[in-house]
Amino acid sequence: TWTTETFVEEAIREIRARVGDKRVLLALSGGVDSSTLAFLLHRAIGDQLTCMFIDQGFMRKGEPERLMEVFNEKFKIHVEYIQARDRFLQRLEGITDPEEKRKRIGHEFIRVFEEESRRLGPFDYLAQGTLYPDVIESADTNVDPKTGERVAVKIKSHHNVGGLPKDLQFKLVEPLRRLFKDEVRQVGRSLGLPEEIVKRHPFPGPGLAIRILGEVTAEKLNILRDADLIVRQEVNRQGYYDEFWQAFAVLLPVKSVGVMGDKRTYAYPVVLRFVSSEDGMTADWSRAPYDLLETISNRIVNEVKGVNRVVYDITSKPPGTIEWE
Ligand code: XMP
Repeated sequence: TWTTETFVEEAIREIRARVGDKRVLLALSGGVDSSTLAFLLHRAIGDQLTCMFIDQGFMRKGEPERLMEVFNEKFKIHVEYIQARDRFLQRLEGITDPEEKRKRIGHEFIRVFEEESRRLGPFDYLAQGTLYPDVIESADTNVDPKTGERVAVKIKSHHNVGGLPKDLQFKLVEPLRRLFKDEVRQVGRSLGLPEEIVKRHPFPGPGLAIRILGEVTAEKLNILRDADLIVRQEVNRQGYYDEFWQAFAVLLPVKSVGVMGDKRTYAYPVVLRFVSSEDGMTADWSRAPYDLLETISNRIVNEVKGVNRVVYDITSKPPGTIEWE
């Protein structure tokens, strides 16, 4: 029977046998897959592992700082922090089409990844948090026909675009490839991964950039980060975090009229998107308690400058998607 203990032991043995004394690169996103992978590899090969975290500027408030603190300080797993906020924002200037936004973010990610892996490298191996469902989906598309080894032509990295250049191809280390998501969580837990990461809600690679409809600007990022923080704080404080598959805020690029004190306001609306789901493929809008919604709405309108209205999304998937872009 499958136990996390035997899985971890065998995975460590396999990783050591495969990697030997070579160096391994890992792109950390902060999600449960790449974090579990980092913990596992660190246990197996210690300093031969290099983790990099690319800060695109689209994470939730405080998350990059928290991630660095947890890995570097608490667990002493060194993560290279790559500050790339300005270049991502520049690439999105004037861009409103959702597909174009995703494409540009994905390409920029590959570019930064390429530059940084050359700077920190060379590396022989790339560790990826590929899970069993990903293996089935991508079939044999990146198996080296000569050796039968899976090689990295793409990086998973939560962006599904972009190829790596010919002279920068890594052999893959994918120790999670036989696991389902709930097994990854168990493995992560058994390796000491903190609950805040184990239970973290799914978060898209392009992050808040696809939760700001239309053009992404620094101003809008600040507004959404503040509104989203209130959502997270209240959902946590009132004990509902585990009830939702995801619970987040979306910023719309329209303005409506409101009143504050004796003044008329004209500002953006924030949408609350709370859903329940098993796997993200289908989802129901959550029947969130009115008291929770009320606190969130009051706090957002009172505390976040630039927002004067909060609305609740009551669309399931299908026909809606979970994200708005
Ligand atoms: P949708 O919006 O398609 O989302 O209903 C389904 C699930 O996937 C997440 N999502 C992403 N995850 N990279 C990711 O890693 C992405 O580009 C991406 N887009 C959507 C979404 O948050 C939901 O959990």
